[in-house]
Amino acid sequence: MVERGKQIYSIHCTFCHGADARGGSGGPNLIRTAVVLNDKDGELLGPVLKEGREGMPKFDLPASQVSDIAAFLHSFRVGGYDISRMAPPTILVGDAQAGEVYFQKTCTSCHSVANDLKGIGGRITDAKRLQQTWLMPGATGGRGGPAAPPSPGTIVKVAVTQGGKKITGRLVKIDDFVVALTEDDGTPRSFTRDGDAPKVELIDPLQGHRALLGKYTDKDIHDVTAFLASVK
Ligand code: HEC
Ligand code: HEC
Repeated sequence: MVERGKQIYSIHCTFCHGADARGGSGGPNLIRTAVVLNDKDGELLGPVLKEGREGMPKFDLPASQVSDIAAFLHSFRVGGYDISRMAPPTILVGDAQAGEVYFQKTCTSCHSVANDLKGIGGRITDAKRLQQTWLMPGATGGRGGPAAPPSPGTIVKVAVTQGGKKITGRLVKIDDFVVALTEDDGTPRSFTRDGDAPKVELIDPLQGHRALLGKYTDKDIHDVTAFLASVK
């Protein structure tokens, strides 16, 4: 039916409504008209063709041909030809280049694709997961959130204030008696704890991500995901 309908359509209708029924010279897009959307097998289409419309001639076609045309028009939905009716097959719809520009501006204070995010697109091949991972790292693997204890490998920053001096670094160990950290230049430091002294602050590593979350536009999100996916 679809094949036959396509032939009949191409003879009578293509000129005005376009080969893909999305509009041609003078005729509207048919796929989203109420007539086509509500029609099942030509029962609504038939009267329109019989009566014609302003700018559209009457068509005296046998019912079987009307059904065939209807089947052809509905095949765009079933076959998903009309992209707006389909869930996108991939969320990689962004512009990787624009994503790279955004990344350079927004993310390089903490990350580098040559270093900690090297090969991330190859490591996380599922685009949805990749997007989830960079949008809110703690949410996927239970990494980093302030409520959950930090898992191994998670960067937790710590600041220890002793003698009026604040020393910050990557947390190595903390218990009631000792806090150990590695300064940014690699120097290991360790302090004995006695109650509240020295003052120890754990810094939420994902604070940066939390702060950014409300700032991304849909386009930024798509673009950055496309860019990260290309980092193989
Ligand atoms: C000469 C140009 C022309 C041809 C040929 C033509 N149409 Fe149309 N068609 C139009 C125009 C113009 C309209 C919009 C009329 C309006 O706005 O009322 C239209 C409207 C329609 C509508 C929508 C009616 C509605 O009320 O929403 C359908 C369905 C339709 N055409 C189907 C067809 C089919 C199927 C064929 C081929 C058998 C065809 N048309 C051939 C010009 C054409
Ligand atoms: C203020 C610092 C900061 C900024 C800005 C920042 N991030 Fe992060 N990001 C982190 C921290 C900290 C982690 C957690 C690292 C860990 O758990 O090992 C992280 C984790 C990630 C991860 C998960 C890494 C992995 O290996 O699973 C991705 C991907 C990521 N960020 C991407 C981005 C992107 C893209 C941007 C910019 C839109 C960005 N980040 C901005 C600090 C930041």
